[in-house]
Amino acid sequence: MNPYYEKDGITIYHGDCRHFLSTLSCDLLLTDPPYNIQVGSAFKRGDRIDNGDAPWNRFDLEGWEQMVTARKWAAVFRARQGVGATLPGLVKFHQYYLVKTNPPPTPRPTFVSAVEECDIFRADGVKWHGSGYEPNRWIGPCSSSPTHPAEKPLNAIIRLVGCLSEAGEMVLDPFVGSGTTLVAAKSLGRRAIGIEIEEKYCEVAAKRLGQSVMFGADE
Ligand SMILES: C[S@@+](CC[C@H](N)C(=O)[O-])C[C@H]1O[C@@H](n2cnc3c(N)ncnc32)[C@H](O)[C@@H]1O
Repeated sequence: MNPYYEKDGITIYHGDCRHFLSTLSCDLLLTDPPYNIQVGSAFKRGDRIDNGDAPWNRFDLEGWEQMVTARKWAAVFRARQGVGATLPGLVKFHQYYLVKTNPPPTPRPTFVSAVEECDIFRADGVKWHGSGYEPNRWIGPCSSSPTHPAEKPLNAIIRLVGCLSEAGEMVLDPFVGSGTTLVAAKSLGRRAIGIEIEEKYCEVAAKRLGQSVMFGADE
């Protein structure tokens, strides 16, 4: 498999992650799968929820997480209605919340999703790399000019990478989108592998990796 991008310890593969995952391993899995993904029983196959069925938001990916080898930690975002992933060899450790101070509006008046949830898993006996006690939430704004409909705030992802890995370790993101995980990993001196099914987002991620990291405001 030829990488789409490879530089400074960061690699992007273009394609369906299910064709790659069994050949890869990492210290930290940090990913944000399409939220319509059918994990557990919250959604039935064929269900459509409000986000529609854009290609970046597909949900035919049942079982992807069973193909992952994460040696130490995992952080997996999920829809509020979703049932969390289960990861081979890891156990659920905590719940992390991403609180957006500028959540995007919904088409109709209702609650807007200002909070996203991330399940944190760990293997037995792994080390915590945070600089001290870390609140299990991040509060701050989403990018005002996102390069992907589901782009995560970079500062939040930098925080997670910093707590859950150390310099030189391998971070894996099978659902790269605009490459936020890869940019965070690079900025902290981690190696990283990302996979993205849509070529246009491989290009967006590669471009972001070529730019210097702009640390935005948070908290
Ligand atoms: C929720 S988005 C990730 C957004 C990312 N966290 C960011 O900050 O930009 C999920 C991404 O997974 C991609 N994707 C969907 N199915 C995939 C598959 N089978 N293999 C690899 N990528 C896939 C979608 O194209 C989409 O860009």
